[in-house]
Amino acid sequence: MKTLSVDLGARSYPIYVGSALLGQRDLFAPFCEHGQVCIVTDDLVAPLYLDRLQRTLAGFKLHSTILPNGEQNKHWQTLDRIFSFLLKNELGRDTTLIALGGGVVGDLTGFAAACYQRGIPYLQVPTTLLAQVDSSVGGKTAINHRYGKNMIGAFYQPQAVIADTDTLTTLDTRNFSAGLAEVIKYGMMADADFFLWLETNIQALLAHDRELLNQVVYRSCEIKAQVVAADEREANGQRELLNLGHTFGHAIEVGLGYGEWLHGEAVAAGMMMASALSVRMGWLTAAEYRRLGRLLERAGLPVKAPQALTPESFMQHMQRDKKVRNGRLRLVLPHGIGNAEVTDAFDAAALADTLAGKPL
Ligand code: GLY
Repeated sequence: MKTLSVDLGARSYPIYVGSALLGQRDLFAPFCEHGQVCIVTDDLVAPLYLDRLQRTLAGFKLHSTILPNGEQNKHWQTLDRIFSFLLKNELGRDTTLIALGGGVVGDLTGFAAACYQRGIPYLQVPTTLLAQVDSSVGGKTAINHRYGKNMIGAFYQPQAVIADTDTLTTLDTRNFSAGLAEVIKYGMMADADFFLWLETNIQALLAHDRELLNQVVYRSCEIKAQVVAADEREANGQRELLNLGHTFGHAIEVGLGYGEWLHGEAVAAGMMMASALSVRMGWLTAAEYRRLGRLLERAGLPVKAPQALTPESFMQHMQRDKKVRNGRLRLVLPHGIGNAEVTDAFDAAALADTLAGKPL
């Protein structure tokens, strides 16, 4: 097991990455011994891992609730199921929630923890690659709204992140690839050497090489932890860089209907759109754009926006993005591989050509 820390002063917390962590009672115990514990999971993950975690936590005052799986369920009604469960069982402020699952369970549980009785502690126990490398770290919690992705939420940090990489062995190919989109994003926005490493090792990662998987989760968490420590609440521009591909990607998710494309798939196509705009602006070479496309394709990800979405529809959704200031769209755009900037200084015609899918 390897440990790193998200350094946020009094709200700092550890991230544990490694094998067989779900069975390690000593990792969980410090967060469970003072009151009640409620595991929140979903109907895909529960049959795989709920029993194991319950056995690890035997003897603590334990409750479990199971939500419906999928991005299409990340809304008020599912959040309310958590609140109802906590209230019906008379669970108080001495309760710790444990989010056992992927990004949807993590976001819902974190938001429930932020709101319930004005805030209770929670642990992130991510079981998908996307959640292990991205969404479980950094305290962004939210539900979706029909007008926009993650529009209702809170910054609320967990007590710890416990990423058992053995859980990735049961992840289906499509979800595994979706997680790789966020991994490739880190290389593209922050670390050219990591991007090169991914180009070299993508086949072995797709074959679930244990050692490489541990390395990839650890390196991704390391990059994310550094960014979050520098800009926890997205106030100085640094954390916004983690949004590379997301403004386009969120438009795809909302435009097609939540769950139609996985978040990582939408981010992959979104990164290609951001990169195409950068090429048009002279900030990225065509060769670098092709390198990104090849890596995403090798990872099993889409590199083009869905045809069903018109440029008008893209613009309508993108205009509600959380990075918009004074009505002006700001985008995270690559400047070479391993570097990105948040900017509104792109050409409107270049954006229009990109949204229309015109060839470079
Ligand atoms: N997934 C982007 C962030 O946590 O800031």
